[in-house]
Amino acid sequence: MSPTPLPAESLGFEFADEALQSRVRAGLERVEQALLDATQSEAPFVTAAAQHVMVAGGKRFRPLLVLLAAEFGPDALADDVVKAAVVVELTHVATLHHDDVMDEAALRRGSSTANARWDNSVAILSGDWLFARASNLVADLGPEAVRIQARTFGRLVEGQIRETMGVGEGQDPLKHYLSVVADKTGSLIATSALFGARYAGASEEIQESLRAFAEEIGVAFQLADDLLDIASESDQSGKTPGTDLREGVPTLPVLIFRAQADPNDATDARLLDLLESDLSDDARLSETLDLLRSHPAFGQAEDDVRRRAADARKLLTTLPEGPGREALESLCDLVATRSV
Ligand code: IPE
Ligand code: IPE
Ligand code: MG
Ligand code: MG
Repeated sequence: MSPTPLPAESLGFEFADEALQSRVRAGLERVEQALLDATQSEAPFVTAAAQHVMVAGGKRFRPLLVLLAAEFGPDALADDVVKAAVVVELTHVATLHHDDVMDEAALRRGSSTANARWDNSVAILSGDWLFARASNLVADLGPEAVRIQARTFGRLVEGQIRETMGVGEGQDPLKHYLSVVADKTGSLIATSALFGARYAGASEEIQESLRAFAEEIGVAFQLADDLLDIASESDQSGKTPGTDLREGVPTLPVLIFRAQADPNDATDARLLDLLESDLSDDARLSETLDLLRSHPAFGQAEDDVRRRAADARKLLTTLPEGPGREALESLCDLVATRSV
């Protein structure tokens, strides 16, 4: 009988090494149980609101990264490694609650968002509560972990704020976008790898190499997410396509398009008009998505994501060879071509 698939397997990740696979599986199973344990409240409604998005699925990319980074230390399945994986996933889910309020999103992980299932207040407060549970656990890891977590969360929220504010006068839109992506997404993914290495007992040098690597793959991961927002249907992504466009958040393909658009070309002119218009209109949004998907700028954005994932992969060469490094290399290949 084949084992029950774990949420992380929805990413399509395959292990070349069997011993590593069974270690990571064991770790992820412990993480799943610990996530449920950490989100029990005496008030049944609080538990339900906090667990709604958490149990709906999700790739568990950050816990997977914690466990793979932990392979570089002597104690890959230490209790603190599992605890750190729970901390990063709880933090992530808390930010999803808040992000879905900001984006007025109805669908997440193929299920209703907390704001759609209940309302914005419930979504915000249960997000706060999840963050409180993460903070409670991170305290067990010690003051340095609390500091790292606080700085990470600060960066993440600043990224979300800077995205909402948009690019400033005289600022380069692409630079602004990339720095927002590094803050809102690279930060927590970087900390996932740092935590894994740290609590498995890896050297500081290895911790730093893994942190720096994960920040880069984290940026590529978000760029890929931004492409999926345009190119992927709900049944695949579990989210509503075109959310970034509807919210007026220009992502990589749009920025590349705008930088090269030819107003004398009929298609470009139409797309420029659409991008300036109110995209809460379903027909206009759908036309914009169609035009963007088939525009050469989209292909250039895909090339850029692949290049960044390959560049992140190169950062792994400073790490000791072995199944852990090979798994991280495959993870880079997967991020470059992911469809969920
Ligand atoms: C979604 O994260 C938000 C981003 C930072 C791209 P994930 O793509 O990891 O979402 P889940 O956890 O699998 O639902
Ligand atoms: C939000 O980015 C990233 C976070 C830090 C939560 P997105 O708005 O692209 O995330 P999705 O697409 O809703 O998952
Ligand atoms: Mg969003
Ligand atoms: Mg997105």
